[in-house]
Amino acid sequence: MKNPIVIAIDGTSASGKSTNSKLVAKALGYVYVDTGAMYRTLAWHCLQKRVDVHDEKAVAAACRKWKTKLECVEQDGLRSVRLLVENYFPEKEIRTPETAAAVAHVAAVPKVRDWMKQTQRDCIEFGNLVMEGRDIGTNVFPETDFKFYLDAALHERTARRTADGVHENLAARDQRDSQRASAPLMIALGAVVINNSDMTSAQTSGRLLKEIRARLPA
Ligand code: DC
Repeated sequence: MKNPIVIAIDGTSASGKSTNSKLVAKALGYVYVDTGAMYRTLAWHCLQKRVDVHDEKAVAAACRKWKTKLECVEQDGLRSVRLLVENYFPEKEIRTPETAAAVAHVAAVPKVRDWMKQTQRDCIEFGNLVMEGRDIGTNVFPETDFKFYLDAALHERTARRTADGVHENLAARDQRDSQRASAPLMIALGAVVINNSDMTSAQTSGRLLKEIRARLPA
């Protein structure tokens, strides 16, 4: 495919990135990429291999050596990319509290971020993408014309996580994501910012699709 389109959807935790990115990808027939899952996969891999996630050099070495593969799968009308480690996708394992606690350390390592950027850019082999994360519009695909930043009030995001059965200090997570030295969470230049505190996902994805369709070449 010549010049695939990449829709970059960044934003804070629990701002609706996953739900809305999937809805947009389905509506457009694009491939969905969850980059947070890739960082979580490396965090899980480090825990499995007894690599100390606080040891930057050890994490960078684990990332240099792990045997991974990208694959594109289709489920319920949604095509999405998965990162396999030794041919295994740790779908459940990457959502445990242990992995969640380790991932911010792994995601702060510059060599890890370089590896992730290259791997995430390689996803265009699968076609047009909707990619969600923290640094997609600023760092991974800075050249895309389709940049979005989702946010919602802290109390609203906390309520959403609690409704999902996850108790997490989102203020601390916001701080870690936006204050790390390497590719911190920022609003990309030219990004459309959507605060969806008072919006349903149908409304948020509707707004995203309207903005995207207005920018797509005829
Ligand atoms: O979106 P998530 O909760 O699955 O992300 C997991 C962690 O990875 C979170 O601490 C932020 C980090 N992350 C990142 O630094 N850059 C990305 N592009 C995606 C996630």
